[in-house]
Amino acid sequence: MIRIFFYFPARQQLFSFKISIISTPDINFVSSDCLLQWLSINSMMRAILLQGPNKFRLKQVPIPKPAKGEVLIRMEAAPINPSDIICLRGGIQNQYPLIPGFEGSGTVVESGSGFLGWSLKGKRVACFTDVGNGTWSEYVVTSAKKCMQLPKDVSFEQGACSFTNPIAAVIIMDTIKENSHKAIIQTAAASSLGKMILRSCIKENIPVINVVRRDEQAKSLKEIGAKYIVNSSSRNFEYELKKHIDSLNATAAFDCVGGEMTGNLINLLGKNSVVYVYGMLSQEKITEIDPAELIFNRKKIEGLWTQEIIKRKGVYYLIKVLKKIVKELSGTLKTDIANEFDLGEIDTALNYYRDNPSAGKILLKPKMLTENQNKNT
Ligand SMILES: NC(=O)c1ccc[n+]([C@@H]2O[C@H](COP(=O)([O-])OP(=O)(O)OC[C@H]3O[C@@H](n4cnc5c(N)ncnc54)[C@H](OP(=O)(O)O)[C@@H]3O)[C@@H](O)[C@H]2O)c1
Repeated sequence: MIRIFFYFPARQQLFSFKISIISTPDINFVSSDCLLQWLSINSMMRAILLQGPNKFRLKQVPIPKPAKGEVLIRMEAAPINPSDIICLRGGIQNQYPLIPGFEGSGTVVESGSGFLGWSLKGKRVACFTDVGNGTWSEYVVTSAKKCMQLPKDVSFEQGACSFTNPIAAVIIMDTIKENSHKAIIQTAAASSLGKMILRSCIKENIPVINVVRRDEQAKSLKEIGAKYIVNSSSRNFEYELKKHIDSLNATAAFDCVGGEMTGNLINLLGKNSVVYVYGMLSQEKITEIDPAELIFNRKKIEGLWTQEIIKRKGVYYLIKVLKKIVKELSGTLKTDIANEFDLGEIDTALNYYRDNPSAGKILLKPKMLTENQNKNT
């Protein structure tokens, strides 16, 4: 009896025929995971390649190999985050070519050496990566330490958004508690992270003044339970915001807009307040700050960057944060998914994100094309 193997690329499956002279041949289908192991992973993959600021396209590149302590993940989904947009514009790195995408989800199909990587083999994980070896690809290599096994009830889609925003939401809540802020302001409140902050604050009974820039954005926040919403485009924005600051005694603002907004927040908050700046959505320099507020009213502006905080607070803090995330991924740290696109539809996906930034996350799903092809065959 002999067994003959055939690889069928459209299905990414391995077929085998067992030929025996005393019985009829049988046919088995072997999954692509097994296939990768069989072929010792030396083929090509599709990935978005960034070759300079705003110069990117879908390319065939070699599948990377995991080194010691690393794993190879077959990607299922990766979100488009504001940090990715900054990366595409050339604002984070200056070495090209690179594959964008800082986080995502998939299945570990290979490990370099090391116990952690070995223990993750075959597991569904969320992962994050360093600049350059990004998740907008069919496969990604990352450190096994940058992976988190996904609970059974968490989908690849939710899992793909497990790190960037959930970590920030947990750190922001810790910052609120450590500094005993009794009420806060948040800007761009209809963002994915803004909704996580709002849900977390409602759970902890901390009033939030939500700043949006369009009236339609108020609806989704009210559905979550927002009580205080102000529109920065309205004529009485400053009056409304000040009224809420005074009545709730808000002593902190979490601002991801920058520009004039940060200055307004500093000027309107009371003595000893802090504005934590954690984003730069307006892409404008901070302006309009009256220096007297900093000198005589002891107000402060502080940058808040999750990666720096995790590094400073150490591995035990990170474990604590990840435990909270696993518990809350389907609850306070849930991400709304607005749409999904194949990697090859990157331009359409980016246009969709540009036109609907408050609708929820846009996911790039590397296997979508293959799945659709299969449906059509
Ligand atoms: N520091 C850190 O460590 C850290 C970690 C995670 C996230 N972040 C930051 O958190 C922010 C939110 O991220 P996300 O993933 O939740 O965003 P997202 O879901 O992609 O949503 C972006 C939101 O920003 C709003 N927006 C865009 N430009 C704006 C502007 N100039 N003024 C006011 N609102 C504006 C959009 O509203 P419209 O619909 O009105 O455009 C939309 O609601 C980003 O700045 C991101 O970089 C920082």
